[in-house]
Amino acid sequence: MLVQKIKVLLGFVTVGLLVTVLYYHWSPSASTVIYSRKRLDSSIEKLLERNKQLKKEFPIPFHLKDNTERRNGCVCEGDAERINLPFSDLFFPRVGASALHSAFRESELKEIKKRRQHEYNSFLRRSKTASNLLIIAEANVPLQYPTQGVEVQPTRSTLIPGLLLNLKSMKVYSVNLTASMGTFNIASLVDEVKISGKGKMHMSLSSPVLAALNRQLQFVTYTNKIFHPNTADIVQLRTGRFQATFTIKIRHELTPKLYDPGPIGPKGEYNISRLVTIATKTFLRYDKLQVLIDSIRQFYPTVTIIIADDSEHPKLVTGPYIEHYIMPFKKGWFAGRNLAVSQVTTKYVLWVDDDFIFTSNTKLEKMVAVLESTSLDLVGGAVREVTGYTATYRHIISTAEGGEDGDCLHIRRGFHHALEGFPNCVVADAVINFFMARTEKVRQVGFDPRLARVAHLEFFVDGLGVLHVGSCDDVIINHASKIKGMLPWGQSETDKTYSKFRNTNSWSDQTALFYFKNHFKCLTSNS
Ligand SMILES: *[C@@H]1O[C@H](CO)[C@@H](O)[C@H](O)[C@H]1NC(C)=O
Ligand SMILES: *[C@@H]1O[C@H](CO)[C@@H](O)[C@H](O)[C@H]1NC(C)=O
Repeated sequence: MLVQKIKVLLGFVTVGLLVTVLYYHWSPSASTVIYSRKRLDSSIEKLLERNKQLKKEFPIPFHLKDNTERRNGCVCEGDAERINLPFSDLFFPRVGASALHSAFRESELKEIKKRRQHEYNSFLRRSKTASNLLIIAEANVPLQYPTQGVEVQPTRSTLIPGLLLNLKSMKVYSVNLTASMGTFNIASLVDEVKISGKGKMHMSLSSPVLAALNRQLQFVTYTNKIFHPNTADIVQLRTGRFQATFTIKIRHELTPKLYDPGPIGPKGEYNISRLVTIATKTFLRYDKLQVLIDSIRQFYPTVTIIIADDSEHPKLVTGPYIEHYIMPFKKGWFAGRNLAVSQVTTKYVLWVDDDFIFTSNTKLEKMVAVLESTSLDLVGGAVREVTGYTATYRHIISTAEGGEDGDCLHIRRGFHHALEGFPNCVVADAVINFFMARTEKVRQVGFDPRLARVAHLEFFVDGLGVLHVGSCDDVIINHASKIKGMLPWGQSETDKTYSKFRNTNSWSDQTALFYFKNHFKCLTSNS
């Protein structure tokens, strides 16, 4: 029995070593990210459709490349099966595809799909505004106008800059302006210009003198009348048979939410305690949590630690700069992250798991430096296992439109590019569960409390388009012995109970959320 255990253990150690060696020799770079096939996004498709229409007007032949994905939206397929050599998946991770509707029974799927479509349509109505519309400027329009950048606060006024007419000599020059959510007026009168429709949604200006009309155009104002922030009005500008269209964005100024970083030292050094709160979620593992707290205190004695705890019989965790929040039993992993993050009062929050251990390589200052001097919202570090294997878990996430059945979610190992000025850092879409982030941004995305147990990438999928994510491999935190915890005989009673609860999240919970909440029909991934 013992001999067998030792054999198994040796097996694990060998595999661990091999993994480590291979990892160091195969570090993914941006160019090694392989997509299963080239995908055209829908805007290109729309332009291609337009080209088809143009074909009638310009009879010059062209050939559409064959691509099923383009015609029917994204298709759900991964890489083809190939001969399985040992470790081939490590060198060339195969892209697998999962159809997400499998989370539901065939009998309920039709109703689910109908309800999803209803919710999705109202999401589209709320999220797409006139400022997302495709506007094409016609060839040779003698009108000058602002293509973008005109903004007005709801129910307020703005000058419309850049309006100009450029025509050969005519008896009378005229320009018409039409809007649908506001009215036009003029800030100053210019001689020899006739104006009708002042204070209306349609205003006409005309003059026998082009220079006078152009001078007058410099004083045209727009006033938003229909209160609907975060939308846009479409303005049509006409002269004779020519027409141009542009948008005016209607939105409030953003209200800043600033955090006082405290006094900054002579060499620009921050007081980490004023800038960062450490947040974690625990469940049963008080021994591990205490090791984490002790390790933090060696390096950061006054940093606030927020603990969300959904154990059945919570033990009090006390000490200076510690906030312990007790939640209903088994409330869950993401619920705990949410609660912890909701209580943070500093600019940045550092997420750690309760079985992590700070070392002298866990330099929070480096993460602060990255967040302070780049546009990144979140920066991940590296987690070192007891085997010495260090993981950064960098991923690229993308989506493709897929029509009525839902869209496609593609997750690949890798990153986008190096981060300028920080040789150890790269830009990606998802990183490991050891990261520092702008508190406001994390709250904006939120951790979906419906994900009760094993979950991580889901947060970054929800954050796609909101979070600008980076990863640095020179900020390293240790992971308490995992191999021991993975083998049944190495587990303490707490560990056993813990894994029992942790793994109760079925794959179908996550699949159902991807399917309904995120409107995906398919997930392809090589991780
Ligand atoms: C401009 O507006 C006036 C008044 O509404 C209208 O009579 C005229 O036809 C319009 N001109 C163009 C080019 O749309
Ligand atoms: C940093 O801030 C903490 C908490 O506000 C404070 O207790 C500590 O004295 C400060 N440290 C320095 C070096 O100013």
